[in-house]
Amino acid sequence: MNSIVSKKDFPSAGSFVYLNAANVGLMYGEAEKVIKEWHKDLAYNGSNNFNENAEESVFKKLHIAAAALINAEPDDIAAGSSATELLCSLAWAVSPTKDQNVVSTETVFPSTIYPWQRVAKSTGCEIRLAKEKNNFINTDDIIALIDQNTAAVSISHVEYANGQLYNLELLADAVHAHNALLVVDATQSAGAIPIDIKAHNVDVLISGAYKWLCGPFGSAFMYLTPYLQEKLEPGLVGFRSHENMWDLDARRINYVSTAAKFEFSTMAFGCALGFSESIDFIYKTGVETIFQHNKLLSDRLIEGMLEIGAKITSPLNDKDRTSIVRAHIESVDTYQLKNGLQNAQVFVSTRGNSIRFSPHLYNTLDDIDKAINEIKKWLRNN
Ligand SMILES: Cc1ncc(COP(=O)(O)O)c(C=O)c1O
Repeated sequence: MNSIVSKKDFPSAGSFVYLNAANVGLMYGEAEKVIKEWHKDLAYNGSNNFNENAEESVFKKLHIAAAALINAEPDDIAAGSSATELLCSLAWAVSPTKDQNVVSTETVFPSTIYPWQRVAKSTGCEIRLAKEKNNFINTDDIIALIDQNTAAVSISHVEYANGQLYNLELLADAVHAHNALLVVDATQSAGAIPIDIKAHNVDVLISGAYKWLCGPFGSAFMYLTPYLQEKLEPGLVGFRSHENMWDLDARRINYVSTAAKFEFSTMAFGCALGFSESIDFIYKTGVETIFQHNKLLSDRLIEGMLEIGAKITSPLNDKDRTSIVRAHIESVDTYQLKNGLQNAQVFVSTRGNSIRFSPHLYNTLDDIDKAINEIKKWLRNN
């Protein structure tokens, strides 16, 4: 199996075995170049080139790229500095009241629920978390927590620790039957799992840049369904939130009429430009192609780990799984194993006393075989 990307796109892939996209993905080469050039220009020329016009239109490319990726419209997209920041602004915008609740899972990445917990401290709304059973969250258990008082269901499309994938259509039907919002954190799915906002029928979808979309730290996007663009007042506001950002007047604020009303301040703008490049690249490579490629890699990983005698604590059903594979090896200190692998130039993460592998488009089956061989070697010697 060959890589589906070229050496120039990911110059360091092949120099080591990097199975850690769920932590930080390798960055697309052109994104790195654009970010460096933007910062160099800023350092040498201040705002001579990056002038007020450039600053005003700086997110246009990102709006277009992110919209194409998820089958939305550019006006439905807001740029932000991180997924967490956008989730915080959104949670305050929705501000569920004392008699309302927000539903999620107990295994969700903290940033997907902490912003709602912070709002709950202030308003008294209830937070309901579906429980994990046998390393799995049953979607029916999430749906059972939704009632007429649910303001939002805020979930991660793919669980960060074991890669469980949720069926968004199924959740959207249950959520909308109760007039609630489906808020999806796609940080662990965008770039690896096909997303079609129109088919999935989600209300809000947020993703950071630096994992499966192969972009930088410092950039993220949020999709906001059209009726919410009018209805919501962002939790975080600033000079950029006003409809004409350079008409600076502290006495009033008239919000931008699109999702961009959630853009409120300056940020590491070069990162947003680099992020647009990486999204374009992922889109052109084809998310379905990436998904199929990554599936072959994870099939081989699972096979190799089972041969070693490991227990796979990620879902194994096609409908629930992704290329994130978590494995537990009885009586092995996973942290030491991870360090041993690192010495052999194989990079993975640990989650609890398990290893989490997360191969992506720049990996090949040779990478997987090398990782499995290094694990076997380490187990023989320790
Ligand atoms: C599901 C999920 N959401 C959000 C984050 C953090 O995103 P950010 O750093 O953009 O705030 C992570 C990081 O691991 C994650 O796994």
